[in-house]
Amino acid sequence: MIILFANQKGGVGKSTLAVLFANYLSLVQNKEVVIFDMDNQRSIYNKVQASKVLENNPLYEVEAAEMEQFSTIKEIVKEKEGLITILDVAGNIENDTLIPIFQGVDLIICPFSYDEFSVGATIDFSEVVKQLNDQAKIVFIPNRIKTTVKYETLESVNNVFSNFGAITKPLPERIDFQRISTFETPPVSFK
Ligand SMILES: Nc1ncnc2c1ncn2[C@@H]1O[C@H](COP(=O)(O)OP(=O)(O)O)[C@@H](O)[C@H]1O
Ligand SMILES: [Mg+2]
Repeated sequence: MIILFANQKGGVGKSTLAVLFANYLSLVQNKEVVIFDMDNQRSIYNKVQASKVLENNPLYEVEAAEMEQFSTIKEIVKEKEGLITILDVAGNIENDTLIPIFQGVDLIICPFSYDEFSVGATIDFSEVVKQLNDQAKIVFIPNRIKTTVKYETLESVNNVFSNFGAITKPLPERIDFQRISTFETPPVSFK
């Protein structure tokens, strides 16, 4: 199974949630996981390289890859039953190398926040994805939600996104998410 974390908006939590999800699959579900970091910024790959110096064995492999390598990666991973492949991409919809990726993955996870720019970019992104692959399954994750803020547009935004896919429960703003690693997940605390 190939799961893509994408949104053309930067800074919405794609890389953070990709790592958290990989940790969950690996630690809690005992799944075999691999992450391909296809974003030029290589934020996950660099994080792993830096922390390898200090920490023990990572939970799973993180590879740096180019988006052009998608079809080769797909061929390789489909041989490995049970393996969950996570892709982190920059998500710029002007980039044609994303087309086969949108068409070839099993699930697209799209973090966003309820501010005007993030919502607009997320709608544009979803429209392009659906045009390229009307079977695409998109899961929207409201991220960095502050309990003290009233999000006036929440219902109307969720209505629009529900035309493209499913919307999860919101994820709160959490300082410890800014120190996420591919070795462990901070303990969950509920208020
Ligand atoms: N739920 C959250 N709470 C607090 N900080 C977050 C949360 N999600 C993401 N961040 C922070 O927001 C910034 C952007 O997240 P990142 O995952 O790099 O976004 P993207 O990959 O979409 O560009 C990072 O500094 C990250 O630590
Ligand atoms: Mg990123």
